[in-house]
Amino acid sequence: MDQKRIAGEKAAEYIKDGMTVGLGTGSTAYYMVEAVGRLVKAGMDLRAVPTSKATEAQALGLGIPLVSIDEVEGLDLAIDGVDQIDPAFNAIKGGGGALFREKVVASSAKEVIWIMDESKLVDAIGSFPLPVEILPYGYTHVLRQMEQAGLHPVLRVKDGKTFVTDNGNYIADLHVGAPMDIADVASKLLGMVGVLETGLFLNMCKRIIVGTDDGVKVIENAGK
Ligand code: A5P
Repeated sequence: MDQKRIAGEKAAEYIKDGMTVGLGTGSTAYYMVEAVGRLVKAGMDLRAVPTSKATEAQALGLGIPLVSIDEVEGLDLAIDGVDQIDPAFNAIKGGGGALFREKVVASSAKEVIWIMDESKLVDAIGSFPLPVEILPYGYTHVLRQMEQAGLHPVLRVKDGKTFVTDNGNYIADLHVGAPMDIADVASKLLGMVGVLETGLFLNMCKRIIVGTDDGVKVIENAGK
């Protein structure tokens, strides 16, 4: 069973007529966006805010009506993938490099759903390197500060070149390891000039939808 596909398709069932929906990025969100395309084809009235240029291109190809984040006062729902999530719903995101837009969209939504395959569920986050979006100007100094703070940064490289985000910035992947002291890492990063945003998405979701070999599991976050 394709765990990512069933999780993505299940999440689309939470979209109702008239909603403004945030569309996530990545290989799981891909299936959700395809399902949203089918809803639109079937006549559902919705509009969507994409979290990356890749998702924007996919959504445009499917005829999904798009609006920019600055054209809406808020979103009803945001649906996106994660890289790791712990039992307290603390997640690492940004493996695809879209973390800044993903965080703006999720923060502007009344309700957030994270979708994933089973491998993303962990007891403690941190074994997946934590992506941090940093400004190109003075980035070597930011990396040095991260190194001095014991955060083990690696500048992201793709196809032999420094990876550049949709916002024109760089990504430092922090090899902190698990279990990570989330509060300590977050506060160290917050104080660094040149850090734009981190891939820590802490207790932001209303529910998670996990694809398993036995079908889809929906886990509600009682604290939300
Ligand atoms: C994109 O920047 C990420 O936050 C993705 O949502 C995350 O990496 C999950 O991606 P997959 O669904 O491809 O595993």
